[in-house]
Amino acid sequence: MLAPEGRVHRRVYTDPDIFAAEMERIYGHAWLYVAHESQLEGAGAFVTAHMGDRPVIVARHTDDEIHVFANRCTHRGMKVCSARRGSKKRFVCPYHGWAFSTDGSLIGIPHGKGYNGKLDPKDPALGLDRVPHVESYRGFVFASRATDGPSLADYLGPMTRAIDNMVDRAPSGEIEMTGGGFRQRYRGNWKLHMENANDLMHASIVHASSVDSAQAVADDLADGAEDHALQMFKGNGLPLEMMDKVEIHGFPGGHSYMGGFYKEGPITQTTDEDPINSSYRSAMIGAYGENRAENIMGWDTFNHLVYPNLILNPKHQQMRLLQPVAVDCTIVHSMCFRLRGAPEEMYQRSVRFLSALNSPASQITTDDIAMFNGIQQALDEADSEWIYLSRGLDHDIAHDDGGEIGEVGTSELPLRAQYAAWRDLMSA
Ligand code: FES
Ligand SMILES: [Fe+2]
Repeated sequence: MLAPEGRVHRRVYTDPDIFAAEMERIYGHAWLYVAHESQLEGAGAFVTAHMGDRPVIVARHTDDEIHVFANRCTHRGMKVCSARRGSKKRFVCPYHGWAFSTDGSLIGIPHGKGYNGKLDPKDPALGLDRVPHVESYRGFVFASRATDGPSLADYLGPMTRAIDNMVDRAPSGEIEMTGGGFRQRYRGNWKLHMENANDLMHASIVHASSVDSAQAVADDLADGAEDHALQMFKGNGLPLEMMDKVEIHGFPGGHSYMGGFYKEGPITQTTDEDPINSSYRSAMIGAYGENRAENIMGWDTFNHLVYPNLILNPKHQQMRLLQPVAVDCTIVHSMCFRLRGAPEEMYQRSVRFLSALNSPASQITTDDIAMFNGIQQALDEADSEWIYLSRGLDHDIAHDDGGEIGEVGTSELPLRAQYAAWRDLMSA
């Protein structure tokens, strides 16, 4: 067995055959995030995305439906669309000009008489391969290649709350993805990033250099002069006894989330002395009333992991999406949302948060990527067979949200939840 409870064989990170099986059995069955509806406003609006290692086009068709289909020409395999997003009446393959509608069907072949009637352009099989299931949850568009399986809402289960909270934080009840984002490629398996995102044990150790320099800078500043990035860097330095007090939740299906761990400054969004927080709070109270606004804004959590490859951080309007490229290569897409109806400074803060945490110039994520590169290299070379996920094993506590909660925040419960889902899907 490659992943018995509490440990994992190194081949799970290094064997190309296991990666190929994951792309079929995990990414071929899961509901995978592909787009946000704010990117698909109006017929012809599209984005390009990946479902596992397969490139797809996500487009709004003239009938207003969102369709997802392979970004691979049925003629001789060229990528049909290389733009990241935009709006088109039709997709024309750059190689020999086959044209496809925004629902993926073939609508034209230049110089088609050369086929001497042996190829029927109306044959549906010549359309771009359609992904059978597409559903939205409050503007988040997911697609699935599974022939059977749960609805999107059932698949997301308790993670719907993260999406609800992300959207409810907009006074207008709508969020939008308008700008671009960051992309970083690392030499390491996709699971290494998922295992890192809810690992409260690593932050103060891996990120010590930025914690220490942030503290040194903060010591020289007047009270209240710290900016967001400085507070973020310091947050990673929370003592491990305090990290243990942060809630860590794991669920069947591989999802997980952690509680918030920013304890001081405007980044906690609890102080009214901060003018941006205070005008945002007024807008929220105006929209929802005091009780409901406090409920929405008071849900203090950090990363929410939707298995297998989506990470949401509703409080700071952040999102990360993993694109597995090969067994030892992954692209991380990082983006953020604008809260419609909130002061514009909230969006500027969200962009700064994204830059400080997830840009290639970040002093945080670059530390993590150094770990992923190092792990991948060592697992490729080493002759020791196992890695261990047993911190907190047998001390997880059943929770009335349908999942489990770690006895302490530094528990490796989220990793075990991921591997329970991995075993289920890979052995199905
Ligand atoms: S490969 Fe697309 S038209 Fe030839
Ligand atoms: Fe980290």
